[in-house]
Amino acid sequence: MKSVVITGGGSGLGAALAEEYGKQYKVILIGRSITKLNSVADRLNSKGYKADCFACDITSIDEVQHVFGQLLQREDVHMLINNAGSGKFGPLEELSVDEIEAMLDTNVKGTIFTTKISLPYFKDRQEGKIMNIISTAGLRGKVNESVYCASKFAVKGFTESLVKELEGTGIQVTAVYMGGMDTPFWDHSEHIKDKSRFKTPEQVAFQIAEEDQGQPEIFIDR
Ligand SMILES: NC(=O)c1ccc[n+]([C@@H]2O[C@H](COP(=O)([O-])OP(=O)(O)OC[C@H]3O[C@@H](n4cnc5c(N)ncnc54)[C@H](OP(=O)(O)O)[C@@H]3O)[C@@H](O)[C@H]2O)c1
Repeated sequence: MKSVVITGGGSGLGAALAEEYGKQYKVILIGRSITKLNSVADRLNSKGYKADCFACDITSIDEVQHVFGQLLQREDVHMLINNAGSGKFGPLEELSVDEIEAMLDTNVKGTIFTTKISLPYFKDRQEGKIMNIISTAGLRGKVNESVYCASKFAVKGFTESLVKELEGTGIQVTAVYMGGMDTPFWDHSEHIKDKSRFKTPEQVAFQIAEEDQGQPEIFIDR
């Protein structure tokens, strides 16, 4: 059975995408907390899906090399969904250096590392799909979201370039843009006062899977 690797699969949109893509793939969940990953994997397996998980901090090239090296050897991986992300919000001068680095390291470097390590595998097979979960924060600047937007604009540029660089290789690359979702992403944030207008991650995951034909862009919201 072909597999999909989903980073940030232990919660929110990643867990919801696992439910959708689990209908056609074995799901390999990646994240830092093995407890969260195990609980999603157990839920999927109890529903009759096939799921496995690996703890991996995608900001560490050594961990990505080690974990992806293992799973690319033993699984028939057809798709990588770069979904893991981190967001801290507020006026720029109030963001700590650690918060700035966490956003850039996770959202930008993490996405680049997992893709870089997986590409030779996909190129050897002359097939594969890479989907990068961005945000409407990758389309326009927003108040108190400067570094988060910067990180998501970076992933937009990375993704658009790969679409061109991989043309004709059999590897499809897709950027996905969505607005707010009611997920644990906002658990420790005062940035959003009212999440009631937000979509659920299940709604967004359903729409992504419905629309996904390997095209360069999917817009859930603009
Ligand atoms: N929620 C929204 O309103 C919204 C809107 C647009 C786009 N997005 C994007 O959607 C994606 C999913 O976010 P979400 O809303 O589902 O939030 P979430 O529930 O907080 O999910 C983020 C996931 O990323 C994982 N993660 C964070 N840092 C990691 C690292 N260094 N290595 C590996 N995994 C890491 C987390 O697991 P661990 O902590 O266990 O590592 C977590 O499961 C993100 O890229 C986010 O930017 C969210």
